[in-house]
Amino acid sequence: MKNYLIIQKKIGNFKKKSIQVDGDKSLSIRFVLLSALTKGKCSAINLLKSEDVLNAINCVRKLGIKTIFKKKKTEIFGRGLFGLKFKKNLTLDTGNSGTTARLLSSLLIDSNYQIKITGDKSLKNRDMKRIINPLKKFGAFFKSKKGKLPLIIKGTKFPKPIKFTENLGSAQCKSTVMIAALKTKGVTKLKCLPSRNHTELMFKNILKIPIKIVKKKKYEMIDIKGQKELKPFNYKIPGDISSASFFIVLTLLSRNKILKVKNVNLNSSRTGIVKILKMMGGKIKILNLKNYKGEKIGDIEVKSTDKLNSINLSSKYNSSAIDEFLLIFLVACKCRGISIFNNLGELNKKESKRLDWAIRILSLMGIRVKKIKNSGIKIWGQENFNINKRITIKNYLKDHRILMACVIAGLTLGGDWKIYDQNCYRTSFPSFKETLKKLGAIIK
Ligand code: S3P
Repeated sequence: MKNYLIIQKKIGNFKKKSIQVDGDKSLSIRFVLLSALTKGKCSAINLLKSEDVLNAINCVRKLGIKTIFKKKKTEIFGRGLFGLKFKKNLTLDTGNSGTTARLLSSLLIDSNYQIKITGDKSLKNRDMKRIINPLKKFGAFFKSKKGKLPLIIKGTKFPKPIKFTENLGSAQCKSTVMIAALKTKGVTKLKCLPSRNHTELMFKNILKIPIKIVKKKKYEMIDIKGQKELKPFNYKIPGDISSASFFIVLTLLSRNKILKVKNVNLNSSRTGIVKILKMMGGKIKILNLKNYKGEKIGDIEVKSTDKLNSINLSSKYNSSAIDEFLLIFLVACKCRGISIFNNLGELNKKESKRLDWAIRILSLMGIRVKKIKNSGIKIWGQENFNINKRITIKNYLKDHRILMACVIAGLTLGGDWKIYDQNCYRTSFPSFKETLKKLGAIIK
């Protein structure tokens, strides 16, 4: 069976359209893992049903948690903060999901058996030391080779609160420490670089855990007190801005189009892409902004334009756009002038080495591009850039965001694309292809 998709035609005009994207991945995985720790029935509307989230669900099921899929709702029956069923020789397969592998580890710090966490080829390349180190301080025991999956965790009966400095700006690492802290008797003190703050908002506004957050110049200080029990909750999951971004860039780089993406999570720790594209001349408006349990939700309206400016981006935007850089680089290809991005070392620690892949893909497209010091990238844009060649993309560790960014490149900049691992978009955005087809894209 064919395992690639073909794009040979730019997307035609759709004038004015409105779409919705699938539920937010970060919120969906947090919903699954935190629900499992409450005592009672939790329910979510619009939970993302992507492979990453389904893997998280399978893992909590293996830990004795009942989950039910209804028409619109997903119900998860938590067994209490200390109620997970740990069994001998249990293996939890987290697939491609770094968020699941890392956050799930914190749920296991009180397990009385050794539990194995594993994942796919891409996830087995990713750094787990960033969570092993703090979780060891809580008292858990780990076995792993070079801090990578598969890893074995055995918990402790008495997890103790810790002091920890998170220096990577990683929300996964911060959240792992925050969740583990709930199982201790005492106050965990976390000092961290800014990163997406969904866990903080869920703790505060949904679980009603009195956490203390003090924002300093560079770091944030978070104090979390151990809990006895967590109350069940209901949640409505908004659309994922990381998924919406593919359609924002599709519209921006096309002609005569207006697109509205409705009901998207617009938490400012996630909207870096909107801020950056606006600085580059993108015509983007936020409409109907509302507050929902601490998260900001609204619609994004974007208009295509042929006047885009290059950018020398300050690194302060990196964390709030960390999953969107492939798309931002595509926009830079069509800007007048040279764009520069710095301090993107974390991009090479994602599902694939995304910074290196961006350089490879842009070069294949015919763009002059260079890796610069400090894990940066320099892109020589061309206002009338158009691809006129064949491009084959394969062996990229099935990185969903690489596949989707290449599809957007083909549909807006042209070229004859053959992209392998055609279904890997299902990791984060199952309705990606269907939504594109509704807008008139031809994908074979
Ligand atoms: C995520 C955090 C980010 C992001 C990932 C999801 C999360 O990683 O890249 O896709 O849900 O917490 P970091 O741990 O590097 O912040």
